[in-house]
Amino acid sequence: MYEAEIAKRKTFAVIAHPDAGKTTLTEKLLLFGGAILVAGAVKSNKIKKATTSDFMEIEKQRGISVATSVMSFEYREKLINILDTPGHKDFAEDTYRTLTAVDSVILVIDCVKGVEEQTKRLMEVCRMRDTPVIIFVNKMDRDGKDPFDLLTELETLLKISVQPLSWPISMGSNFKGVYNLYNQTLNLFRAGAQKVLDDMIQVEDLNDPSLDKQIGEREAAQLREDIELINGVYEPFSKEHYSNGLLAPVFFGSAVNNFGVQELLDTFVNIAPNPVGRPTNLRTIEPTDPKFTGFVFKIHANLDPKHRDRIAFMRVCSGKFERNKFFYHVRNNKEMRFSNPTSFMASQKNIIDEAYPGDVIGLYDSGNFKIGDTMSEGEKLQFKGIPSFSPEIFKEIINTDPLKTKQLNKGVEQLTDEGVAQLFRQEVGMRQIVGTVGELQFEVIQYRLLHEYGASCRFQHVQYYKACWMVSEDEKQLNDFIKFKANHIYRDKDGNLVFMAESSWLLDVAIKDYPKIKFTPIPNLKFNSQFLKWARNKMNFLVMVC
Ligand code: G4P
Repeated sequence: MYEAEIAKRKTFAVIAHPDAGKTTLTEKLLLFGGAILVAGAVKSNKIKKATTSDFMEIEKQRGISVATSVMSFEYREKLINILDTPGHKDFAEDTYRTLTAVDSVILVIDCVKGVEEQTKRLMEVCRMRDTPVIIFVNKMDRDGKDPFDLLTELETLLKISVQPLSWPISMGSNFKGVYNLYNQTLNLFRAGAQKVLDDMIQVEDLNDPSLDKQIGEREAAQLREDIELINGVYEPFSKEHYSNGLLAPVFFGSAVNNFGVQELLDTFVNIAPNPVGRPTNLRTIEPTDPKFTGFVFKIHANLDPKHRDRIAFMRVCSGKFERNKFFYHVRNNKEMRFSNPTSFMASQKNIIDEAYPGDVIGLYDSGNFKIGDTMSEGEKLQFKGIPSFSPEIFKEIINTDPLKTKQLNKGVEQLTDEGVAQLFRQEVGMRQIVGTVGELQFEVIQYRLLHEYGASCRFQHVQYYKACWMVSEDEKQLNDFIKFKANHIYRDKDGNLVFMAESSWLLDVAIKDYPKIKFTPIPNLKFNSQFLKWARNKMNFLVMVC
């Protein structure tokens, strides 16, 4: 119904192991896309503040990207939505959820370090969802691994077929540029150059002797040899294999030097998928379905410290979203309308009147939304595949300023709604435990409680191994267990019963002694102890709710 709008949109995320150059590349994509005007300014805090997703003070202090944000711009008649993701592993949940809201990704690799731990995890998630991946090998101005070795490493460690669509001419201090295999152009490198379009040379024939003059005899000979080898090994590039998540095209460049980014963006616009369908409990929702549907994949409190607002980020999946029109909030079973839905250009927010499949909109929220919530035009749909997480680290909140108890409680309540930490309240006592998958989140929560709510606290380590949600049809057995383990029984924010197991051994004992109770690593799952073990061993902490 809105085919033209859908065909315009490309919604993707840039993902990477920290420090590979994700923030730099994102900024350069904005630059080449014309969304910002100043090049080569990633080091300037002013530009960084205005153009990247570093909304939070703590990100700037620590030099890591904590929050996920959305940036939109138009390029070659396409509307590009980039969803930025935190690189730090302690915030991997945020990234994994963001990946449910995109249609493709650009994965950044540092050519010196190659495939790193977080690269593998991110790729695992992409593979689970068959998300199309383009790989950008960054920092070619440094002496890194041999490009052929890198291709083998990518293929072996990321378990995906790869195919170079651009090829580097030397690297490090001798880096001369990249040859674009997709449209046979040569792009010569000048360190720190601004946009490099003007330097693009069309190469009809690699054997043309003028190439030797351009890049040097030795480099020209090497390039000819490399390209011959590549052409001999690889089939013509298959867009279909890429779209199905089977083949990852590889680009080489240097984001900080604005190099190789244009080729990446141009090819991205050509090959990246338009919004694709998404599974629900009832059927797959196609973007072309005429009725509006969307789901919330992220919630952020106090995005703008001046206004103390909380924003739910919603991916539009089908139909047309309209300002001030009533839509159906499936979980709450109520109609809602939004007078100030926003689109994002980094930290700038603009009120929008309508949005189409592929768009991400920000909805001001006073506590109605939870991550994973679906909105529709009345149908009781639930989008599937939004990951939930089993917390790994548990700490008790100790209030260090009793005069600010109210603020502390409000802050903890709101910040844990964002989904990166879970709150557990002791059933028989006063203890409040926060569970996360990464240490850093405690620091972030503590910092935000102080700066956003004026509440000070500290976190005290508690010896818990796993939070296990409990359900049982045998009320007696459940009550016996609750009495027996009273000190370790908690409620999550929705009032569900949770057993905090002190150790793996004690959990196994509980499972054996109370066979009629189902212990699960996240709420509302119909799995039992075997699943728990599987999740622990195989998937670490990520569980897709299907
Ligand atoms: P991230 O978001 O993936 O964590 O990485 P980010 O872009 O912040 O880049 C990490 C570091 O790598 C930054 O240096 C950045 O300047 C550098 N970098 C990015 N692209 C390239 C490249 O193509 N070549 C080289 N040589 N370096 C690159 P930093 O010293 O940590 O920060 P800064 O002081 O430069 O901002």
